[in-house]
Amino acid sequence: MAGTREPRAKAGGQSIAFRVNGRVVAVSGSPWQRLSRVLREELGLTGTKVGCDAGDCGACTVLLDGDPVCACLVATGQVEGCEVTTVEGLAVRTSSGTSVGGRLQQAFLTHGAAQCGACTPGMLVAATALLERNPVPHEKEVMDAIGGVLCRCTGYRKIIGAILDAAVKDAGVKESGSAGGAAVSPEAGAAVGKRLVRLDGKQKVDGSEIFGADETPANALAVRAIRSPYHRARFHFGDLAGFVRDHPGIEAVFTAKDVPGKNCYGVISKFADQPVFAEGEARHRGEAIAAVIGETAAVEALEAVDFPVSWEELSPLEDIDAALATGARLIHENRPGNILVRGRVVQGDVDKALDAADVVVDAEYETGFIEHAYIEPEAGFARRVGDRIEVQACTQSPYMDRSDIAAILGIAPERVRIIPTAVGGGFGSKLDLSVQPFLAVAAWHLGKPVRMVYSRTESIVSTTKRHPARMRLRGGCSKDGKLLALDFAADFNTGAYSSWGPTVSARVPVHASGPYYVPHYRALTRAVHTNLVPAGAFRGFGVPQAAIAQEQLYDDLADRVGMDRLEFRILNALDDRTPTVTGQVLGAGVGIRACLEVLRPKWKAARREAAEFNLSTTGALRRGVGVAGMWYGCGNTSLPNPSTVRIGLKRDGRIALHQGAVDIGQGSNTIVTQICADALGAPIERFDLLSGDTAITPDCGKTSASRQTLVTGKAAQMAGEKLRRAILKLAGACDCASIHFGGGDSDDSGITVQDGDKSHVLALEDSPLDEHGYVITSEATFDPPTSPLDENGQGVPYAVFGFGAHMAEIEVDAELGTVRVLKVTAAHDVGRAINPTLIEGQIEGGVAQGLGMALMEEFFPGKGENLHDYLIPSAGDIPPVESILIEDPSPIGPFGAKGIGEQAVIPTAPAILNALHDAIGIRVRRIPATPDRVRAAILAAHKEREKENARG
Ligand code: FES
Ligand code: FES
Repeated sequence: MAGTREPRAKAGGQSIAFRVNGRVVAVSGSPWQRLSRVLREELGLTGTKVGCDAGDCGACTVLLDGDPVCACLVATGQVEGCEVTTVEGLAVRTSSGTSVGGRLQQAFLTHGAAQCGACTPGMLVAATALLERNPVPHEKEVMDAIGGVLCRCTGYRKIIGAILDAAVKDAGVKESGSAGGAAVSPEAGAAVGKRLVRLDGKQKVDGSEIFGADETPANALAVRAIRSPYHRARFHFGDLAGFVRDHPGIEAVFTAKDVPGKNCYGVISKFADQPVFAEGEARHRGEAIAAVIGETAAVEALEAVDFPVSWEELSPLEDIDAALATGARLIHENRPGNILVRGRVVQGDVDKALDAADVVVDAEYETGFIEHAYIEPEAGFARRVGDRIEVQACTQSPYMDRSDIAAILGIAPERVRIIPTAVGGGFGSKLDLSVQPFLAVAAWHLGKPVRMVYSRTESIVSTTKRHPARMRLRGGCSKDGKLLALDFAADFNTGAYSSWGPTVSARVPVHASGPYYVPHYRALTRAVHTNLVPAGAFRGFGVPQAAIAQEQLYDDLADRVGMDRLEFRILNALDDRTPTVTGQVLGAGVGIRACLEVLRPKWKAARREAAEFNLSTTGALRRGVGVAGMWYGCGNTSLPNPSTVRIGLKRDGRIALHQGAVDIGQGSNTIVTQICADALGAPIERFDLLSGDTAITPDCGKTSASRQTLVTGKAAQMAGEKLRRAILKLAGACDCASIHFGGGDSDDSGITVQDGDKSHVLALEDSPLDEHGYVITSEATFDPPTSPLDENGQGVPYAVFGFGAHMAEIEVDAELGTVRVLKVTAAHDVGRAINPTLIEGQIEGGVAQGLGMALMEEFFPGKGENLHDYLIPSAGDIPPVESILIEDPSPIGPFGAKGIGEQAVIPTAPAILNALHDAIGIRVRRIPATPDRVRAAILAAHKEREKENARG
């Protein structure tokens, strides 16, 4: 990227003039201010996003005289007299008489290239720069052009496809038409199954979407947390009142004693243990001990050393072994042995079955912390309105936030309003509170609006991570490949506070068998406290870690009995009648065998090609093919998790859809509407969406555990069907009558009911309104039918499971230890593909995260707390992904649909790791398999062979 001119020195307050999106602007202030900040805060062009302020993420990319630059690295003085184009100006910017940006925006919509949308402005700007100088680029040139812009959601493939598509159109060549969304809305009643363009897509591509940091009340004060620099430390405050007095612009400092209600919160109330502000001792690096509130400039000017606190660093418990050691200090007094919780699923007699097995394999695997690395750091604002508090912030769980904020302030939940903004990626971490408690406490006391925006480093040090896991397992099978027993034990490092540790501990034992029939089974888990950042929810709740272990073990068993690894899985795959490890017989909708069988011809071809390649070369490059299966229960484990959807028929004939499923990029705004529209029989354009706000939308639970399509979708289906029946009743028509939206002739507001040869026109303009302000309101609640698990984990943990299998083709450089993934083929049983484009987007994004998990991503608390050192896959790392959608309908899900969000990430890493073993015959026991670890494993295997040879 360009953009390294020297800023011209200006006296403070002197005006700097330049053009933005064709308009001349003049800004005052320091010429050293970041351009990104001036664009957003002074010019209101919040389409330019800030993900790191360090040149690492590319979210802030703008055009400077036609060249893409990171606006966070450009001083405003550098742009004097220049032309700056932001995402807001792309549609009107023309080059050679054509709007490349406008065409790209349309292509992004039709390809589903924008999910959360946080990276989208930067992507569009970088792509515009490419196509303006190279109208018909090759795929590699596209990947290079967007290589500096990170996306955590899409897996890049749809972005690349959209850019190539826009380029093709730009050159006047016929559109390829591949993987595009539907530009035209489907007929009433035919939305399910269509590649509908996401309903909230336009604002994501034109820069008008409101994320957490994009809206601020006038005169809002800034909030900054003071955080522990140590993993464990005692602290003592100095003169806080004097600090406020001596710092003009600072209005207040709040600490634990200023929390009006309980200084304690947590996503699972039974285990709530996290303070808003630590009291006396910080239990992890990054834990907040106080908040400083004041004018933005004053708060930003503060140096950490200015704050009156003294620290006494204490010895931390940094890993599972230290925490479990006999006599180890307790991190929470009420949790003996530093064990937060245990999980257990036992079926049959595993010891006896392993003794009797023809083949037994043992294995150990370890995984590290993984950072969510969404492009949008946490942000929001709060204001007090009389005796109520309003918090607007990025969140995955507005009603859970409401309960916790109410408890923190000591007020009734009805006095708390949570307004979710668009969420620039969450993947589980934005289920937990971040900025919200600080904002709520500050606004409550001061009676003034307050705003808080996390820096990238603050986001990384203080928010939850994927649990590191240490897994030991032993599996046995018969000589003809029938799985007989699996003994699985895992410890998860849950960090200093509970967060979702109990959920991980409960979910993993149910899933560690994989989607196979295992008659004798024992899975025991523990969540262990340490003095590290809390681990929480991250796409899969521990199941991706377990799949890494179990799927590699199954490959080893297949090898030992001389069976093809895919056929081994097909032989053992669950079906509608075989019981799971919790004794559940699903009865229908078990599509794992179909997922595996659809891979069979591709598997054979890929294996043959890899073998031919390996035979053809004597160099360091070796190819391998790996496969892995997965299953994942949708929704909470054996716990209620209802969603309630309300829809209202308005006097103008439109439908208000109150659905509170927060769309974090996965597409629930669109999918839930598609389901509701078909249940009602209304066209999509009739719907007005009201999302998430706790003041106007019933509780749809949290966006997690792949539950929104199933649970909220089902509630939307039921509400739609109920409204349909109510309309027919109003017209005095039978259930078999048809409904047409439109009153006939040119009247668009009425409804026509056709009952045989009778036609009823319902004129709604003067109809009385109910308590919700609608002509008719329909509300429905759905809670998936589950049952509690007994002491051995037997019962019905989930009503619906999703299934899938991935095949990875890779190339390894055995000299360097580097791994290149050549292709991933992903087959998923989604029950019913409500919107195939959005499902493919979930799969491709899941593959990218799985690839990062397998090969590159590990967070070490205290080190590399930025996106420069913590590497996530960029466009150049991602191979082609072939998605195959299997539709084995669930009898429970809406139109047969199942979830896909977590499912998509689970099998990628084990498939890649199995391919690594296939290529060079080594197992890397500590994941990710980074080049140094791969190289070390190769050398260790080499030494072992030498020893064996020496022994003769
Ligand atoms: S915000 Fe500028 S590169 Fe990340
Ligand atoms: S769509 Fe790219 S970061 Fe979310």
